[in-house]
Amino acid sequence: MQMQQHSKGLEMGRIAMQSIYNRRSIRKFQGKSVPKDVLEELLNAGRVAPSAKNRQPWKYIVFGGTQKQELLDVMQTGLVREEQGITNLPKSRYGIPDAKNTLKIMQQAPIIIVILNTNAKSPFLPVDNDERIMEICDTLSIGAAVENMLLAAEELGLGTLWIANTCFAYKELVSYLRTEHQLVGAVAVGYPDETPPQRSRKQLEEIVEYRW
Ligand SMILES: Cc1cc2nc3c(=O)[nH]c(=O)nc-3n(C[C@H](O)[C@H](O)[C@H](O)COP(=O)(O)O)c2cc1C
Repeated sequence: MQMQQHSKGLEMGRIAMQSIYNRRSIRKFQGKSVPKDVLEELLNAGRVAPSAKNRQPWKYIVFGGTQKQELLDVMQTGLVREEQGITNLPKSRYGIPDAKNTLKIMQQAPIIIVILNTNAKSPFLPVDNDERIMEICDTLSIGAAVENMLLAAEELGLGTLWIANTCFAYKELVSYLRTEHQLVGAVAVGYPDETPPQRSRKQLEEIVEYRW
């Protein structure tokens, strides 16, 4: 019995490792919709992620169909405003073409999961030191949840794109969402219509320093 559990554990471990190495950002999606039970497997993977002090500072709003189109129209309005120079992010303007491209990808994906930090407010409001530390921990926790969802999606045969370009339309989007929570970003989900090669990564020697 114990032996069986051990080999099941090893098998699960291998699947997890495969997902870590096989996952890619997907920017082309098939038209096929994602069944709700499959989507919920992915959301559950996010639900069980670790979080600072187990605060679980996340909320997910799942958009599809005409509701998704409304959300993306609102994002488009924000991008146009930024492009016209009425900007909240003056030093990030170089990122607008990329954000417009992200919006096109979001149009293609059948599902957009909007991710909120329920413990944080607008990034355009000042925070004190304690609040900043708390926000860092909560943002890290949300990152863990998003990665869990991305890896679960990989195992379920789904493709995902992690999206932060929502920041350019921050004010329009939170107003549309009618939320006081912080909009952290979004994840586009669908069946992939491309198999991109692995993107470049720094080598271990560049990023690890041993002091032992
Ligand atoms: C926090 C975060 C935000 C991202 N935002 C975007 C985005 O708005 N648009 C986009 O096309 N890709 C976005 N990406 C995807 C990255 O560009 C991608 O992960 C990176 O280039 C490495 O490629 P890979 O995911 O295929 O390994 C984001 C990734 C992360 C982790």
